Amino acid sequence: MHRRGFLAASLATVLASPRALAQMKMDDMSNMPGMDHAGHDMGAMGQGPVALPQNQPLRELPLLANEAAGPGLLKARLTAESATARFAADRDTPILAYNGISPGPLIETQEGDRVEITFSNRIEGEPSTIHWHGMPVPADQDGNPMDPVAAGADRVYAFELPEGSAGSYWYHPHPHGRTAEQVYRGLAGAFLVKAKAKADPIPAAYGDTTLFLTDLRLAADGSMPENTMTDMMNGRVGDHVLVNGQKNPRLAVAMGTKRRLRLYNATNARFLRLAFVNAAMTLIGSDGGLIEAPVAADEILLSPAERVELVVAFDKPGTAILTTLDYDRGWMGPGRPEDKGLALLTADVSDTQAEPMPPLPERLRPIARFGQPTVSRRLVFTEIMAMKPTGMEMGFLINGMAFDMGRVDIVARAGDTELWEIVNQADMDHPFHLHGTQFQLIERERDGKVSKPPYLAWKDTVNVARGETVRLVTRQERPGTRMYHCHILEHEQLGMMGVVDVQA
Ligand code: C2O
Ligand code: CU
Ligand code: CU
Repeated sequence: MHRRGFLAASLATVLASPRALAQMKMDDMSNMPGMDHAGHDMGAMGQGPVALPQNQPLRELPLLANEAAGPGLLKARLTAESATARFAADRDTPILAYNGISPGPLIETQEGDRVEITFSNRIEGEPSTIHWHGMPVPADQDGNPMDPVAAGADRVYAFELPEGSAGSYWYHPHPHGRTAEQVYRGLAGAFLVKAKAKADPIPAAYGDTTLFLTDLRLAADGSMPENTMTDMMNGRVGDHVLVNGQKNPRLAVAMGTKRRLRLYNATNARFLRLAFVNAAMTLIGSDGGLIEAPVAADEILLSPAERVELVVAFDKPGTAILTTLDYDRGWMGPGRPEDKGLALLTADVSDTQAEPMPPLPERLRPIARFGQPTVSRRLVFTEIMAMKPTGMEMGFLINGMAFDMGRVDIVARAGDTELWEIVNQADMDHPFHLHGTQFQLIERERDGKVSKPPYLAWKDTVNVARGETVRLVTRQERPGTRMYHCHILEHEQLGMMGVVDVQA
């Protein structure tokens, strides 16, 4: 073989393999301006991450104040604005906040309530919206990128919470091209819809604690650095995972205590494979509320935007630690962050016995299985490198296309049961999220092997691992425009989002 021909042939083979493509992406990356070879941005080099205080008592998220006099109505205000936070002991961090705090205030409502929230966008020079992640709200109240609230403007979001909608939802901005940054700068909060007291099968003695997990990166001066190329490719992963804004806070419990914990992954891009050392976890709920029956869990993978409800039994005296395990989500380029062994929350379990706690019921609530789907759709996720005037940039595509606000990708009909097949042909995991409704996972397929989920659950976000196909069934009950996208917010920004127009 001629040398030339041999080279061309081997180059073609190299180019065809996904591993080679990943390698190429990585080589391009480390040659980019502003990057050192470890993939860090230059500003943060040398100093290492700024230390944060740990071991402070876990704080509860402050409740959003209700201005309504009677029951059944939540009337409140959320103002997005610049604020200052103290993460490190000795330096200020400029952030974006709802009502001055990050995470934003905890919104607590009940099934059947009406919600009227006046949103004031006081972010300097930037449009924003509030999206009610996972909630069954009308499309024109859902904070879509098509409905921006201009800087300085106000708008009211109003909706009713239907019976059966109890669950752990959240709220965050969704403006075109700015979601990722507004969220990592601090705009996100938890939105609980609780069941009517008598309808809630979880014993009240377990309490109800929201643990809102976010991800923080600080430069030496205390500010939050802008996204680097590494962040744009992989999604921004910070240096510190925070729980309710605190690093590894402490919780004091008596031995034998059972606690109901709602865990939120509100990070832009960090995959959290969680375990509780020295305490037993039981899964009781998913994104859209309780599952049918409790399931014991040694570990839980919480991909960006997912939530779980757990009952944790603290039966051994000493310390019990909510910690992370290793998880390879497909990291592009250098600088893969450490993902195992992070202590997120430490419980001090006393050796005095707690009052005996009522047991968890065997059945939590029924979940109706969807009938046979009448429509099926296929969404293929891919990644590309594209030459832009500013240099090489990654594109994240669905069915070969980047998001276009003016394009309708799917026309659907309200009330139709649909099978959605999400095919991940990319080198990274992508957590898929659909607005406006909850769905049920049917199966996962990888290398020809099909696996069924062990329990039925309501979900609005599901991880689709690289090389995997996920099949789910869903139904939109209300007409209007809905988004679906990867919930690594940088990927959403770089194109991995589409529009479904649900017709009446
Ligand atoms: Cu929480 Cu469109 O997303
Ligand atoms: Cu959403
Ligand atoms: Cu993604």
